[in-house]
Amino acid sequence: DFQQRREQLRINKLAARFYHNILLNTREGRRGLEYLTKRGIKPETIERFQLGYALPAWDGLIKYFGSQGIDIKDLQKVGLVIPRKDNRGYYDRFRDRIMFPIEDVTKNIIGFGGRIVGVGEPKYLNSPETPVFSKGENLYALSMIKKDPELDAIVVEGYMDCISLQQNGFTQAVASLGTALTQKQARLLKKYTNGVILAYDADSAGQTATLRGMEILAKEGLNVKVLSLPAGKDPDEFIRRKGRDAFREQLTGALDLVSYKLNLAKKGLDIQNSDGKLRFIKRAVEVLSEIENEVEKEIYVQKTATELNIPVQVLKDEIKKRQFPNN
Ligand code: GTP
Ligand code: MN
Ligand code: MN
Ligand code: MN
Ligand code: MN
Repeated sequence: DFQQRREQLRINKLAARFYHNILLNTREGRRGLEYLTKRGIKPETIERFQLGYALPAWDGLIKYFGSQGIDIKDLQKVGLVIPRKDNRGYYDRFRDRIMFPIEDVTKNIIGFGGRIVGVGEPKYLNSPETPVFSKGENLYALSMIKKDPELDAIVVEGYMDCISLQQNGFTQAVASLGTALTQKQARLLKKYTNGVILAYDADSAGQTATLRGMEILAKEGLNVKVLSLPAGKDPDEFIRRKGRDAFREQLTGALDLVSYKLNLAKKGLDIQNSDGKLRFIKRAVEVLSEIENEVEKEIYVQKTATELNIPVQVLKDEIKKRQFPNN
């Protein structure tokens, strides 16, 4: 109920402050600070995102909250502690991790993400689903971007991608919290802007998530574009290696849904030779025949025909054959 919700939000806020203070003001926190510094995160960014550090101990948070007179059952409800198997006590969920407080649109801290410092599994750990936190219904840093239909939001996979972009001046960056984008997240985004640029990792997981994410966003009436980073890179690595101007160029060159699909269809094929050309036509026809808007379809058919150096009519016939296979 309302009282419980309020108590849970209060606990999250205290926990965020606790982790933040350890990161900045304690000897043991230096481990976390060095990690962030090594990754190029500046002090003002740590401040802006209220980043923190959870000590490697099993009871750091438990001890702190014990001294604050907070009911450990409430800590369990927000997922900050986990009951031991033998039911004898609890232990901290987040240990030896960089802590990312997650806010909802009203700037309440509803949960946390935690990245392991050094090696260990899992690399990222999130708060579980709780009465105040639902992963699929929030976006990391959404509360920080400007509400402006003309300003495209940049949606990335990871916390560090989002933070890194924001630090470099791309202040419309949000992260989808590691899950595939949901319809609810798309609806939230629509309240902030009319356009979204997807900038997922350039790996096969990111590619799959991109194709699915685009459909979901488009269904919500958002104008969607995709940025295709060089293989293996994510936005954080890209901007650190190539700089903000290079990233801005990537944004400018972001592709709409159809162009992105046509690009994928071309991958690994040499359309200069006839075998590659034929295979591309087959794949392109699949993409083109799915375009519902006739004007849009016409434009892409023309473009593709020109690129392949074949008569437009040939391509149109292939599309017809696919749509009406029995004629
Ligand atoms: P860095 O290695 O710190 O740069 O993180 P990253 O964001 O580049 O990681 P990656 O591309 O592997 O994953 C993207 C996002 O997926 C992360 O930011 C997390 O939100 C999520 N994710 C990655 N690994 C895990 C995991 O082991 N468990 C969970 N729950 N989420 C993960
Ligand atoms: Mn501070
Ligand atoms: Mn990845
Ligand atoms: Mn990364
Ligand atoms: Mn990544």
